Amino acid sequence: MTALQHVKLGTYYVVQMPEPDDFEFWRERARAMVQCDVPPDRIAWVEPGGTGDLFAHGERRSPTPEPDAKPVRANKRFVSLAKNAILHSDPERFALLYRLLWRLQSRPRMMEDKADPDVRRIEELDKNVRRDSHKMHAFVRFRLIEEEDGEHYVAWFEPEHHILRANAGFFMRRFANMRWSILTPRGSLHWDTETMQEGPPAQRGDAPGGDPMEDLWRSYYASIFNPARLKIGAMLKEMPRKYWKNMPEAALIPQLVAGAQKRESTMVEAGRSKFLGEFEERPETLAAIDKAIHACRKCPIGELDNHAVMGEGPQDAALMIVGEQPGDQEDQVGRPFVGPAGQLLDVHLEKAGIDRQASYVTNAVKHFKYVQRGKRRLHQSPAAKEIDTCRWWIESERAIVQPKLVLAMGASAARGMLGKTVSISKARGSPIPLEDGSELWITAHPSYLLRLDGTARVEQERLFDADLAAVKERLGELVG
Ligand code: URA
Repeated sequence: MTALQHVKLGTYYVVQMPEPDDFEFWRERARAMVQCDVPPDRIAWVEPGGTGDLFAHGERRSPTPEPDAKPVRANKRFVSLAKNAILHSDPERFALLYRLLWRLQSRPRMMEDKADPDVRRIEELDKNVRRDSHKMHAFVRFRLIEEEDGEHYVAWFEPEHHILRANAGFFMRRFANMRWSILTPRGSLHWDTETMQEGPPAQRGDAPGGDPMEDLWRSYYASIFNPARLKIGAMLKEMPRKYWKNMPEAALIPQLVAGAQKRESTMVEAGRSKFLGEFEERPETLAAIDKAIHACRKCPIGELDNHAVMGEGPQDAALMIVGEQPGDQEDQVGRPFVGPAGQLLDVHLEKAGIDRQASYVTNAVKHFKYVQRGKRRLHQSPAAKEIDTCRWWIESERAIVQPKLVLAMGASAARGMLGKTVSISKARGSPIPLEDGSELWITAHPSYLLRLDGTARVEQERLFDADLAAVKERLGELVG
């Protein structure tokens, strides 16, 4: 008997989703439907809570594929977009995903077709969901409630999509030692420092309105506010007015905007003032880190005539690539890995199929250390103590980007990640687990390759390529 015989001609199937974000359930049903040759227009995907009344005559049991049914094809690009797109609030998303999966069986390269309306739509859903998650990370503000059994931090947030569960881990890692709840109209999360529980939807009135924590947020925000960067349009785009009401610091915006010009000229006059605060509060945004590293004078490298170079790349990159420190060209341009080492790195990344644009590229040390020889500035390696001091910044970047895999190139980068010196030849080739569940892979620095020639260079480039290939493969497994 073939799979086709299972499905009565003209049968209409109704799939009731148990949860709006249950990718595994959708995947299991969709696989069975594809294997039984059920075309997209014969399935109604019903949201949880929806009755599916319109399809009263539909078959509610999914067909069972034959044990020898053909395996279902779904490439990594589709799966990674689908996992995110299913969190979207568009009720058509399940059907869209199924249509794509169905079409992928006969057009396996379809996801590369940027003009295809279904491909465009899933990419759009994915983008909207990422944006919503980004906003949740940036705009959730906890209010402190004193309860009989201790402190409890409660936040109210209004996500546009079903992103709450998918982001639970982010808040759990970031506020691991606090007892907190995030209340939203789509459901709630409760963390008691050990276990996470889900709760029902909440209303704004369930969350407290304001408390002394707000003063902390206000002064924090005022301290990271950079008047030189003031772009009201961009600010509104990033922080839509919808979120202002939940954010105590929003009350500061009018006065910060009004005072911006004055503060900017004071900043310019003061020149590069010393970094005043101690390393106490981790910056919450990459922009705040960027600002802080420019003012950082925690080690003598920052006192040289140079500029801090911030990491670059998507804030949600799965791969973080770490070098040692900016070189002469990076210092002038203000971007990591743009000089000779960067060019060599680009060649090898491309060879390994690693997309630099999709990676977050940064350095263990943020300023260029050099000695002046005539007109030339000659690179000097940072001392262990200087790398250790700068770990604060790379760790802050990592806490925000949360890469699944970190590639540290060279001994300084490895020390920046681990806080201790390791031998590259011993450490390369296998992952080192990091405390947040991500993995560290270590390889040589491209500048080292540049200093070699002849067979030594060929051999080291071969090892470098092998390391990058292993990283590429592992990344594929981690990203799914
Ligand atoms: N070398 C590094 O380690 N980083 C850079 O950004 C450039 C060269």
